[in-house]
Amino acid sequence: MGEERRVTISVIKADIGSIAGHHKVHPDTIAAATRVLAEAKRKGTIIDFYVTHVGDDLQLIMTHRKGVDSPEIHGLAWEAFKKAAEVAKELGLYAAGQDLLSDAFSGNVRGLGPGVAEMEFVERPSEPIVVFMADKTEPGAFNLPLYRIFADPFNTAGLVIDPRMHDGFKFEVLDVLEGKYVVLNAPEELYDLLALIGTPSRYVIKRIYRKRDNEIAAVVSVERLNLIAGRYVGKDDPVAIVRAQSGFPAVGEILEPFSFPHLVAGWMRGSHWGPLMPVSLRDAKCTRFDGPPRIVALGFQVTKGKLIGPVDLFDDPAFDEARRLAQQIADYMRRHGPFMPHRLGPEEMEYTTLPQVLEKLKNRFAEAKDYEKYIKPKIKKSELLTGEETHD
Ligand code: 13P
Ligand code: 13P
Ligand code: MG
Ligand code: MG
Repeated sequence: MGEERRVTISVIKADIGSIAGHHKVHPDTIAAATRVLAEAKRKGTIIDFYVTHVGDDLQLIMTHRKGVDSPEIHGLAWEAFKKAAEVAKELGLYAAGQDLLSDAFSGNVRGLGPGVAEMEFVERPSEPIVVFMADKTEPGAFNLPLYRIFADPFNTAGLVIDPRMHDGFKFEVLDVLEGKYVVLNAPEELYDLLALIGTPSRYVIKRIYRKRDNEIAAVVSVERLNLIAGRYVGKDDPVAIVRAQSGFPAVGEILEPFSFPHLVAGWMRGSHWGPLMPVSLRDAKCTRFDGPPRIVALGFQVTKGKLIGPVDLFDDPAFDEARRLAQQIADYMRRHGPFMPHRLGPEEMEYTTLPQVLEKLKNRFAEAKDYEKYIKPKIKKSELLTGEETHD
């Protein structure tokens, strides 16, 4: 295992504009980004690349030997997005340049709008990976499936029967509001882990390591666009990379949680809960109520740094039932219209245009006379009966 076999996978994505609303990337913008990466491959900056899209998000999948957070690679992605955004502007595409929040690129695209998932490792003799890409949702959407893949033996048989995985995995969880992170061990600290990641808008799984040797197993893009911009610009449609087989979960174990289309935040105007529907690249476009949120899984072999593939892993009738269930959930949730819990709660709505509407209503409010009488608390906290006394 020499130094020459260290390879970095960088998946960097941005919404640079879309045809007919937030529906789908235009092929000319894909071509513009492809030209930039093809030139970089010719020059040897990157070893290999694959450009694709999921809904209105342009996806750059690259391999190279420059490590994570390389200014050269981030600069290359930025250039590809800029060129694609120029084409989007020429074509008058909708929200052209949406995720390019600033012109001030200085060595790293993090914090500027694009989403980034990168991992570096020593290539195994056979190195299968799965790249997940979602549209109309947020990074916390990966919390539930990653928990199931790396911590739930009812999902991943290998946790029980493969000695290389039997010690479990370490989860690095980021608090996106406070900018702090914690590393928790599974299975010992499962309940602590769930106490955090059950709040996916705030606590986001960022990386997962195999406990016995600290090998990187998974990484998620954790950028929260609206937190960065301080206003609604679009959802932080996330990506993730997961290593598979030979001491990591099998590809089938990695795909299995997506047979349950769990509810994620996003969908119309980034403001609604909806089911995450696993789809093929062909169906990676969000139509109904700008959704429902979708996820694509591409499988590659990484061989001497080259990307062999992809295979379109959800392009399989085995996921038809999940898609059908997602449609039913979509129907059910839609019937709530503008009511919670279809619409997101007030904390998340802060980053949308709803506060402008509420502001307008502010001086329409009059004092409620009955409030003093019935609702305003008269009892001091010390006078309250305690739970023990009333519920014995
Ligand atoms: P517009 O008001 O620009 O149509 O935006 C709505 C929307 O799609 C939010 O991203
Ligand atoms: P995107 O985040 O995919 O641009 O979607 C924005 C939106 O408002 C969809 O209704
Ligand atoms: Mg968009
Ligand atoms: Mg999108």
